[in-house]
Amino acid sequence: MNLFSLMKSLFPIAFLALLSGCSPAESVPSADLTQPADTQPTISWQSTSNNDERSDMLAARPQLIVLWSGSGYDKQFSTPRGHQFAIKDVTNVLRTGDGEKSASCWSCKGPAAPAMMAEFGENGFGGKTFGEVGHRMDVSVGCDDCHSPDRKALKLARPFAQKAMAKVQQDFDTMSPAWQGAQTCGQCHVTYYFQPEQDNRVNIPWIFGNDADAIEKYYDTRRFYDWIHPLSGAPMVKARHPEYEHWSRSEHAKMDVTCVSCHMPTQVDDEGREYHSHNTGKVMDNFDSTCASCHASKKSLQAKLSKRKQQIDDARTEVEKLLVKAHAEAGALWRGGVNQTSLSPALMDIRHAQWRWDFAVSSHGVHAHNPSEGLALLATAKRQAQQARATLAVMLSQNPEIEVSYPDISNKLAAQQAMGLDEAALQQQKQRFLDEQVKGKWPGWE
Ligand code: HEC
Ligand code: HEC
Ligand code: HEC
Ligand code: HEC
Repeated sequence: MNLFSLMKSLFPIAFLALLSGCSPAESVPSADLTQPADTQPTISWQSTSNNDERSDMLAARPQLIVLWSGSGYDKQFSTPRGHQFAIKDVTNVLRTGDGEKSASCWSCKGPAAPAMMAEFGENGFGGKTFGEVGHRMDVSVGCDDCHSPDRKALKLARPFAQKAMAKVQQDFDTMSPAWQGAQTCGQCHVTYYFQPEQDNRVNIPWIFGNDADAIEKYYDTRRFYDWIHPLSGAPMVKARHPEYEHWSRSEHAKMDVTCVSCHMPTQVDDEGREYHSHNTGKVMDNFDSTCASCHASKKSLQAKLSKRKQQIDDARTEVEKLLVKAHAEAGALWRGGVNQTSLSPALMDIRHAQWRWDFAVSSHGVHAHNPSEGLALLATAKRQAQQARATLAVMLSQNPEIEVSYPDISNKLAAQQAMGLDEAALQQQKQRFLDEQVKGKWPGWE
């Protein structure tokens, strides 16, 4: 039996329900402000509520609606904003629907989540629903996610993150203080999936390593898929923000320049005491204090960053357009009666190409974190997508009666209509959920 049909027989389509991944209220700090040392970290942490800009990626790149169709990410996808918004945004996002998804969607939103994992067990937590435990989510990305209660030590609050670091021989307890700092971020800024056979608990799939090839090997050998693509029938896997993975192989990582060096620079308060800014959002504002020791000028570094961003954007656009075509062509053959076994090699190329593309682009800031890895992933993805299309072209020429119609991706609405996605209905469902279950009941929701 080939891999694809094996997958179909092993895993029912019910997987669809698992995917809709995740991302409050201005949280109440659990900080003890009678501790002077906590004052500046807390003020700067609260100030992430000023980082309130985000942009609608589905409007900017309507082709994402096709590529992610059926995964949940096709419903809504924006760039990230400040840590104070984590709880509010995952509650509002159309992906979490009416609260029936797994509570695992809360895993990376605040310290109440690991506290519940300790209380109910990881499977017990994953087996609950998002709506069921939302009232427990009080603080958004809080002190207890990264610190011991006295703030004197760093910690990883999440058991799945502790296990993941051990899988790649980076056990938290054995790492330098610099890397421990990066790992506090890497609890959440990593790729993951919900483990269906373990009540949807979060698993970080690093058993063979944490680059795109090693994780793909894990998913392929387990014949895992997050969802079946409705257009092509390909068994897809979704990458989610692998910032830690990309950074850990970068030039900066080799020099111990970590997430904390760039995103939490050292500052000095009125009394001359040093502290780390806990506003992670404003990297380029910190040029003089963090980058200048190695990079000559802000202007030229900014120019380099923009150039890398443009290169990544151009490469990804190319891959996205190829993949949309490949899904449509495979789908036409499927609907035209060609059996799935003969489509299987092309579907696996689509799966592998889209996985690599997603591993590059769902990592926010790959142009800054590891542009060479990002470009290499996109180059391989392009080759694999072309390979899929070459195979499909041969099959189409053998079946001249089959016509391919390509989805309209000229704007968001057109792409939604092409994929049968009714945004208004999803918004109504969300509004009902907020009115009936959230407002006035969960902390911080009037
Ligand atoms: C408990 C999980 C969690 C931890 C730990 C965490 N983050 Fe985040 N981070 C998030 C989530 C969730 C978002 C998106 C919030 C939104 O868009 O509502 C985010 C957003 C961000 C953003 C974009 C928002 C902005 O302010 O511009 C940056 C940058 C960031 N995080 C960096 C870091 C760094 C650096 C660390 C480690 C010091 C870290 N994060 C630790 C969950 C986490
Ligand atoms: C060498 C400095 C540097 C290091 C190290 C670094 N970052 Fe970044 N990061 C940046 C820059 C620069 C940007 C892009 C900002 C821009 O283009 O405006 C960025 C972007 C981001 C974003 C996206 C922010 C947004 O608003 O879209 C996130 C999230 C993020 N970084 C998290 C991390 C995490 C987590 C780590 C460690 C695993 C890390 N970064 C390591 C410099 C760094
Ligand atoms: C995303 C992880 C994260 C969160 C959330 C977080 N911290 Fe920190 N905190 C760090 C890191 C990393 C350092 C730097 C430790 C080092 O390198 O010595 C730090 C340092 C500190 C320090 C030592 C002084 C300094 O600034 O270097 C204090 C005190 C502190 N944090 C308090 C807090 C308080 C209070 C909160 C909640 C309001 C909080 N932190 C939330 C990661 C976090
Ligand atoms: C300890 C030294 C050091 C610090 C501090 C440092 N960098 Fe770097 N950075 C390097 C080195 C070395 C390279 C790789 C060689 C190169 O491309 O210049 C690099 C490369 C880069 C690249 C990739 C450039 C390219 O051409 O692809 C970017 C972007 C970047 N750094 C951004 C930053 C930012 C932003 C900061 C501050 C927030 C920063 N770096 C801080 C040493 C540093």
